[in-house]
Amino acid sequence: MPTYRIAPSILSADFARLGEEVRNVVRDGADIIHFDVMDNHYVPNLTIGPLVCEAIRPHVQVPIDVHLMVKPVDRIIPDFARAGANIITFHPEGSEHIDRSLQLIRDHGCKAGLVFNPATSLEYLDYVMDKIDIILIMSVNPGFGGQSFIPQALKKIAEARRRIDESGRDIMLEVDGGIKIDNIAAAAKAGADTFVAGSAIFGKPDYKAVIDDMRAQLATV
Ligand code: DX5
Ligand code: ZN
Repeated sequence: MPTYRIAPSILSADFARLGEEVRNVVRDGADIIHFDVMDNHYVPNLTIGPLVCEAIRPHVQVPIDVHLMVKPVDRIIPDFARAGANIITFHPEGSEHIDRSLQLIRDHGCKAGLVFNPATSLEYLDYVMDKIDIILIMSVNPGFGGQSFIPQALKKIAEARRRIDESGRDIMLEVDGGIKIDNIAAAAKAGADTFVAGSAIFGKPDYKAVIDDMRAQLATV
């Protein structure tokens, strides 16, 4: 069985109590904290920046996975690295020079990855697989939590898995958007190993119950 990782998205957490929220969700079984950065330019919503990443950093030991939904990306990457991010991903549409942005993330000591919207081709990977540590497949259009899973994402996850296996490299395959207890196994069957879930976890009173149920589903794959 692959190593499966659950990555709660703090987009659906209580922002007035963010330190406590991340501590609780890690206590309840989260492997990674997924940190959604939106700029009201690349996506039509505005969220949080490096200051908030720095503020939550002392509260948890697990990796912080910064998902940049911003354009451009290069100016802000070093700030997130300094704020304690461990993984930084961006959308190819957000950078004029994708290879350079990936290298910039790595030069700052973080894992680097590309994020693919539902209609974005995986061909962006063709010449940069050697600079990729993580591939993130969006199963909703980025910008908001609480949207429904787009089933076509399963085909794209499978295609990304094929590319990873062919590369022979150790690359994480993450899925983000509309992940719930009842579809996490399908995403795992398609080849994902890292599962972002915002509303499914932070939208419920008992985080542990949801994370345990997700792991039980993953154990059936
Ligand atoms: C969407 C974000 C997601 C979002 C997931 O743009 O990238 O990480 O928070 O939320 P749910 O799990 O509610 O779809
Ligand atoms: Zn995200």
